[in-house]
Amino acid sequence: MDRDQARRRHQELARELHRHNHLYFVLDAPEIPDAEYDRLFRELLELERAFPELVTPDSPSQRVGAPPLAKFEPVRHTLPMLSLQNAFDEGQLREFDARVRRFLATQEEIEYVCELKMDGVAVELVYQDGVLTVGSTRGDGTTGEKITENLKTLPTIPLRLHGDFPSVLEVRGEVYMDLPGFQALNREREEAGEPVFANPRNAAAGSLRQLDSRITARRPLRIACYGVGVVENSLAPTHYDILRQLQTWGLRVLLDRVQLVRGIEGALDFYREMARRRDDLPYEIDGIVVKVNNLALQRDLGEKSRSPRWAIACKFPPRQAETIIEEISLQVGRTGAITPVARLRPVEVSGVTVSRASLHNWDEIERLGVRKGDHVVVERAGDVIPDVVRVIAERRTGAEEQIPLPSTCPECGTPVMRLEGEVVPRCQGLSCPARRKESIKHFASRGAMDIDGLGDRYIDQLLRLDLVDDVADLYRLSRDDLFRFERMGEKLAENLLRSIERSRHRPLSRLLYALGIRHVGEHTAKILARQFGSLEVLSTASKEELMAVHEIGPQVAESVVSFFASSQNRRTLERLHSFGVAPEPEERRAGGSLSGKTFVFTGAMERLGRKEAQEMVENRGGRAAGSVSKKTDFVVAGEEAGSKLDRAKELGIPILTEGEFLQMIEEEDRK
Ligand code: IVH
Repeated sequence: MDRDQARRRHQELARELHRHNHLYFVLDAPEIPDAEYDRLFRELLELERAFPELVTPDSPSQRVGAPPLAKFEPVRHTLPMLSLQNAFDEGQLREFDARVRRFLATQEEIEYVCELKMDGVAVELVYQDGVLTVGSTRGDGTTGEKITENLKTLPTIPLRLHGDFPSVLEVRGEVYMDLPGFQALNREREEAGEPVFANPRNAAAGSLRQLDSRITARRPLRIACYGVGVVENSLAPTHYDILRQLQTWGLRVLLDRVQLVRGIEGALDFYREMARRRDDLPYEIDGIVVKVNNLALQRDLGEKSRSPRWAIACKFPPRQAETIIEEISLQVGRTGAITPVARLRPVEVSGVTVSRASLHNWDEIERLGVRKGDHVVVERAGDVIPDVVRVIAERRTGAEEQIPLPSTCPECGTPVMRLEGEVVPRCQGLSCPARRKESIKHFASRGAMDIDGLGDRYIDQLLRLDLVDDVADLYRLSRDDLFRFERMGEKLAENLLRSIERSRHRPLSRLLYALGIRHVGEHTAKILARQFGSLEVLSTASKEELMAVHEIGPQVAESVVSFFASSQNRRTLERLHSFGVAPEPEERRAGGSLSGKTFVFTGAMERLGRKEAQEMVENRGGRAAGSVSKKTDFVVAGEEAGSKLDRAKELGIPILTEGEFLQMIEEEDRK
């Protein structure tokens, strides 16, 4: 390939990758499967390796992180980033409305935009001629820190704007971590013996404050944009119009969660509704923000000292409560990590009764100075299990007891070790019943081998009856074995055996994750499975070979090598194999009737959504691709199909209507 061809192909790939990124992360409506995206991304990386001059600041490759910085540079915001006045109840929100109307000398109802107050970190993004040039934190409002490289790693932040964008655009928004991401990150950290984050906001702030953007790249951060600084030649008359414009330029705005209301009563309704629904949201909010919609009125109202007169934050009551720590128990995880858990006198925290709080580790216990018997403040922050926020020292009686670091495992009595740089002590006993139980639980869990029905109760019995030594033994269980369980019936036994049976051929990535290799979460397991294709190949990979893989660092590489070096692990793998556990290679699912077939969908369909149709193909082992090539087997053309249809005709690829496609699926399913 010559330089010109490479440049053209690179442009094409960059455009496609940006588009798919936006479809997936911003619009939540992907058009192609992940594997197809990965293929395009790898092709782009290969081109950039061969032609380094193609690496532009807005190339999709720039999302993986840049070499570490020595420090963050200060950035002065063109317009100060103001903060908001707070209201803490409905009365104060009404007073805000009264102030606004008094100031504007009007009796009329004001139109307000109600937004969620995202609990994260405020940032500013500067786009010059459509390209993201500077990203910064709010700092003191006047000067922030330049964290451009870190922000560029967020898939929800466009590196280049779409459509008819202004020559200069300063966007403001909140970077946050959603709850599933936050919980997974903390789980990972807990297992690795690293300190956990107290709440999603701290996790987001800590992730953005990394000098090494490759670390930021691995954190599940998102942005929700809520306003602008300077916009060259903006004619938008209202705040709501601005939000809509931001969205058309490719920026992520949670418009579904924004409500336009006339009069303060509407804002109060929104406040009550969100207070009720905040537990159902996949991210943390600490209130709502109410803004005057009309920009001319905003200008009239202006600002006082550090906050605008045209907006207010109405906070929710904190999710805190006071209670007593009645007992501290020690939990042993599957990696042997021993974590202290506080048993609380049950207390209601914003509608949820809590009776346990996580203390995480002894550094945390020391930091809080917490003792058994203490009165404490607990807070639910992004998790149903709350955290202990602080000790109420004034209420001590002197009877409180220190919580000693255990010297032996509470479950098996093996001496405990605390490794250098780790905050948790670990049980070293390989046959510790608690560790074995947790390993089996993890193995059977939803994201792993997904053995439906194999919960705590049965795992306890399996261990008690000595029926499983390691996870491989699950595949040797017979009906008779199960009938030794307490309260086991025909139907239950059959169901459990069937669930175990069904798990034999899960994709390789699931098995890899299920094995519980340190630092190999679901995402990393997928990368390894795709790259190495089989356990045999992966088990012989060297640290260097592993590190050559995109996104695999030294920590993961070392952990994988040492996992396969252990004779005990190798024995488990051999036994799994001999008991018929044979993972499917990635991307192809077991017994798929469309296995090996590639479909391309184009144009609008009547009955099926694009995503739905692609899933139908993938669920049957086929592939849904984004573009037509010689390798395409079928093109399904809906209304107004365009260039893809032309290309299919050119290449002589069979073309199906939506009806024909559905008929084909039906026939395949009958076979
Ligand atoms: S508007 C002048 N809207 O709350 C308007 N802020 O104390 C300034 N925040 O620093 C901000 N969600 O970090 C606005 N929908 C939203 C917000 C929001 C979260 C944060 C932001 C700001 C702080 C205000």
